[in-house]
Amino acid sequence: MPSETLTIVDNRTGRSYEVPIHRNAVNAGDLSQIKTSAEDRGLMSYDPGFKNTAVCESRISLVDGERGILLYRGYPIEQMAEQSTFLETAYLLLEAQLPSRKQLEQWTHDITYHTMLHENIKKFMEGFRHDAHPMGILISTVGALSTFYPQARDIFDVESRRRQAHRLIAKMPTLAAYAYRHSVGLPYAYPDNDLSYTGNFLNMMFKMTELKYRPNPVLERALDVLFILHADHEQNCSTNIMRGVGSSNADPYSSIAAAVAALSGPLHGGANEQVVRMLAQIGDVSRVPELIRRVKAGESRLMGFGHRIYKSYDPRAKIIKKMADAVFDEVGRNPLLDIALELEKIALEDEYFVSRKLYPNVDFYSGLIYQAMGFPMDMFSVLFAIPRVVGWLAQWEESLLDSDRKIARPRQIYTGSQHRDYTPLFDRP
Ligand code: ACO
Repeated sequence: MPSETLTIVDNRTGRSYEVPIHRNAVNAGDLSQIKTSAEDRGLMSYDPGFKNTAVCESRISLVDGERGILLYRGYPIEQMAEQSTFLETAYLLLEAQLPSRKQLEQWTHDITYHTMLHENIKKFMEGFRHDAHPMGILISTVGALSTFYPQARDIFDVESRRRQAHRLIAKMPTLAAYAYRHSVGLPYAYPDNDLSYTGNFLNMMFKMTELKYRPNPVLERALDVLFILHADHEQNCSTNIMRGVGSSNADPYSSIAAAVAALSGPLHGGANEQVVRMLAQIGDVSRVPELIRRVKAGESRLMGFGHRIYKSYDPRAKIIKKMADAVFDEVGRNPLLDIALELEKIALEDEYFVSRKLYPNVDFYSGLIYQAMGFPMDMFSVLFAIPRVVGWLAQWEESLLDSDRKIARPRQIYTGSQHRDYTPLFDRP
């Protein structure tokens, strides 16, 4: 018997059970031995939304919600944002170590090599309506990539996995930029592999008739930092979907398409777009108290506030707030910033938000920066998806290699009708 156990006394039968505790968790499977009769399938745990259920062991990132800490493979997010680059962060998350100079050079080359898309992808893009949301385009086109790389189905082949990871990290910005160019009726801009990861993305988004696009270095770095901040965040909604779809041995493009779909929702990665829409709707600082009143009355949610795990200030939001100044100095202040600051000030003092530990999350300020940089609102969640591909891939690979791996298949508590016989249509009232 392990030294740490939980004693459960079942008052229905008077029997008692010793359940092992491992890493501060009990195994839900151990509950199934608790039965009232031989036919009983055993006690289950009930946890909608996985509020208190660990679905895996992981070594990739850690969120300490009480203390506002985020670690990537043990490194604090503040140090990564200040000293690293997005591609180096990607290497760290996938390979578990910081790269040597030579490894980083090779890694950067491997990613850059794959930035181009098959020309047929353009034909998919043509099929979308001119006003199609770029997140919808991204979900479909990233899923479609699986048909271009059938060897991606060899998910237990380490070389194949590496190649698909390079491709996905490299091609996401190209897909995203094509989706945007389609929506505004501009010709697609091909990747420029002389530029950095984010410099090239800005090139594919905003290049007009100039022969060579030169990214603004302040914006290029700011975007790189935003990508570092969004690269991984342990077991969130979309990562759980990535692991869940991957648990059926689906190829990584299909699993990523599902994860992007999960990210698109307004309660997850779609929140940054909703924040800016909310701020624009408020329109003026004087109208902030009215919104607070409506939120407290349960008529609306304060978008960009609250988090399942953070019960203090999201460390990513702190970094973004600081970085906003550098971006606004370069491109001019976003007029919605004053409304955001006022909203934050009131909310942080108000009993409703204080008692529920609701603080700004990563999405509260990111949209304002993206908007100031010239990205349309529809692109905000796409900007989240590009770097998060790295986290999804790292988590997917970890789950594939996990000796406890099982297909994701939860139980349910059935509350519907018991057996009843079908009544033919003409016999029904
Ligand atoms: N505005 C107002 N009230 C809120 C908010 C909010 N943004 N978030 C939570 N609450 C309240 C709830 O109404 C609830 O109050 P109650 O106890 O009186 O019923 C309490 O706080 C707890 O809320 P839950 O919904 O149970 O918290 P949960 O952990 O399930 O939800 C979530 C987390 C979805 C992020 C939530 O805070 C929310 O909807 N926030 C707004 C959307 C948002 O910004 N999403 C981005 C999250 S970060 C990310 O995904 C990248």
